[in-house]
Amino acid sequence: MDVTIFGSGYVGLVTGVCLAEVGNNVLCVDVDPKKIDLLNSGGVPIYEPGLDELVQKNREAGRLNFTTDAEAGVKHGLFQFIAVGTPPDEDGSADLQYVLAVARSIAEHMDTYRILVDKSTVPVGTADKVANEVREVLKRRGTDLEFDVVSNPEFLKEGAAIDDFMRPDRIIVGTDNPRTAELLRALYAPFNRSHDRLIHMDIRSAELTKYAANAMLATKISFMNELSNIAETVGADIEKVRVGIGSDPRIGYQFIYPGCGYGGSCFPKDVRALEQTARALGYDPQLLHAVEAVNFRQKTLIFNKIHQWFDGDLKGRAFAIWGLSFKPNTDDMREASSRVLMESLWDAGASVRAFDPVAMEETRRIYGERPDLVLTTDAMSAVEGADGLIIVTEWSEFRSPSFEAIKKALSSPVIFDGRNIVDGTLARAAGLSYLSIGRAPLT
Ligand code: UGA
Repeated sequence: MDVTIFGSGYVGLVTGVCLAEVGNNVLCVDVDPKKIDLLNSGGVPIYEPGLDELVQKNREAGRLNFTTDAEAGVKHGLFQFIAVGTPPDEDGSADLQYVLAVARSIAEHMDTYRILVDKSTVPVGTADKVANEVREVLKRRGTDLEFDVVSNPEFLKEGAAIDDFMRPDRIIVGTDNPRTAELLRALYAPFNRSHDRLIHMDIRSAELTKYAANAMLATKISFMNELSNIAETVGADIEKVRVGIGSDPRIGYQFIYPGCGYGGSCFPKDVRALEQTARALGYDPQLLHAVEAVNFRQKTLIFNKIHQWFDGDLKGRAFAIWGLSFKPNTDDMREASSRVLMESLWDAGASVRAFDPVAMEETRRIYGERPDLVLTTDAMSAVEGADGLIIVTEWSEFRSPSFEAIKKALSSPVIFDGRNIVDGTLARAAGLSYLSIGRAPLT
């Protein structure tokens, strides 16, 4: 089938590549000529495991093409995916200007039936706005061409996006037109094999499903983080409590890991946007508000522990940080806990020696060259001469370090584990103090 994808960012590229991989003829459109040139010359503008190879393979097979020509895009595909950004406005609500601009452009150039598929995470009611925008342009053009708007939210995790697309838990298709639902079913058939994962519903429910899923996951994390602080207060061990409650299948083991807060481009933005949607309609979403507030506080927790450990005397100290990305297997640092920590350390007059397996370049891009930030080439070099080691991202390679080597390298033997990933007893045995989340310090 012929498919057009507007927006060659994270969601658009993964969607385009995966649809090409199963044999569709995909044309990706983006307004950024630099990005399109890069893609046309075999480069990929983002880091995502497996994406480079798939882009190259499908480009060479001629099934995946890139252009800045919106008109060519509209002429190309029956399916017109909208996967452009929806950056948050100042009040946290999603800014729809790019989505609506694509809708207008499709309406401007279409000369036969088109299906507009909302893939971007957009507030409830956006599909109606998209349809209105198209209708207006068509009216101005003096035509009554047929079109449909579908809500088809993505559920991709950064670092596992290709796999999530190829083997989805669910494919949500929101449309009031049963014929369109069948066309989407045909498009998604290669991803919908072992049992039926396609869930057809009305448009608004599909739009809300996306926010509900992320808000639920964020709630689980904030709940555990709240509980970890209570555990510390009452003298309990949150890791024991986690296993204790996770064994109840109604609760489950997933997404109940306490830590130094969630980040990324999705949870913080989506929780705020859903709160904003509810507020704008006169409903006070108290739980969503608390989820965000608890997360904000959690991101300051490690700094507060460090501050307390050194009796407020941080000026001139250097701290080693392991992990800068908001989670492992990505270089994405949007809303990352590492940023709150580094900025607090700098404000307190301390400096940072940091290492991340892939996010070094991104860190340089965000903070530039500065005397209080040293980016090292490996994890152990970061620790050299530092006043403490802080683990911020749960990369696998940080899980079993040599505590003896760390002890030797640090000028002040203490580890702050923001993700509870290393064995504190072993650290203690090597002569290090060990502070973590939701447990008594080992000193
Ligand atoms: C999230 C959702 O998990 C995806 O299902 C969704 O499709 C995506 O948002 C989206 O809306 O596009 P993502 O932001 O890539 O995916 O990352 P997650 O793996 O969910 O991790 C988010 C954050 O939560 C990370 O900072 C992670 O360290 C933290 N986390 C996760 C915890 O603190 N505890 C946990 O138990 C799990």
